[in-house]
Amino acid sequence: MDQLSTEELASKLHSNLLPKHVAIIMDGNGRWAESRHLPRIAGHREGIKSVREIVQACSDLGIQALTIYAFSQENWNRPSHEVSALMDLLEYFLAEERTNLIEQGVRFRTIGRLEDLPPSAIQWVRDTEQATAHLDKLHLTVALSYGGRTEIVDAVRKILRDAQERKLQPDEVDEALVQQHLYTQGLPDPDLLIRTSGETRISNFLLWQLAYTELYFTPTLWPDFRHREFFLALLEYQRRERRFGRVLSGTISS
Ligand code: IPE
Ligand code: IPE
Ligand code: MG
Repeated sequence: MDQLSTEELASKLHSNLLPKHVAIIMDGNGRWAESRHLPRIAGHREGIKSVREIVQACSDLGIQALTIYAFSQENWNRPSHEVSALMDLLEYFLAEERTNLIEQGVRFRTIGRLEDLPPSAIQWVRDTEQATAHLDKLHLTVALSYGGRTEIVDAVRKILRDAQERKLQPDEVDEALVQQHLYTQGLPDPDLLIRTSGETRISNFLLWQLAYTELYFTPTLWPDFRHREFFLALLEYQRRERRFGRVLSGTISS
């Protein structure tokens, strides 16, 4: 595989075996920059080019949903100059990309406690959500001030509020009901989770939704994760056998 060109890799993809929903933990921007003796923010800036390329690739391949982890709740604990540079980059990305997103048929949404962000960033997000609300070729969801445990806490709060208003009974709470109260309500669970930069952890991302997702970890740093790397991840996904706890029919002997 490693010797094949990007085009050859693309030609090996089976369109009927593509994931419907890909989630990505975009990690390694800081290390990318540090290895070049650049400030960490240079890595975040370069990482935006990877976002652009992967959104384009998903749209071209007909993948229905892409969810990317851009800023976790824990990331608020970074130095304030890095946090504010990341917020500025978010606005820059939306200003630069809005037209492209519309042209590619991308519906943009966010998950997380958006209210934690600076007002101007919230405004950019809201405007982009509104400008793309009619599109549905690719559902791009960006996790901002996102935490998986907080998402579950928020779901419990909403369910309890519902219960107070319309006397929901405990037995009416089932998996489907919880799912309907998550930030990702309406999206299918991810089929494939990619994490770049060699870390093999979930870092509080989509804790509920990843229950049966295929996990793919690569040492490649996010700014280096482009078409070629994405196709390698998709090819690996296509080799996986998803069993969901069952025994595959071909292997049942009696
Ligand atoms: C991921 O890159 C981007 C964000 C978390 C915002 P990092 O900034 O975590 O890069 P490393 O992990 O320090 O290399
Ligand atoms: C996870 O990366 C969050 C995002 C990619 C936005 P981190 O770099 O913040 O995660 P840890 O600290 O390595 O777990
Ligand atoms: Mg990191």
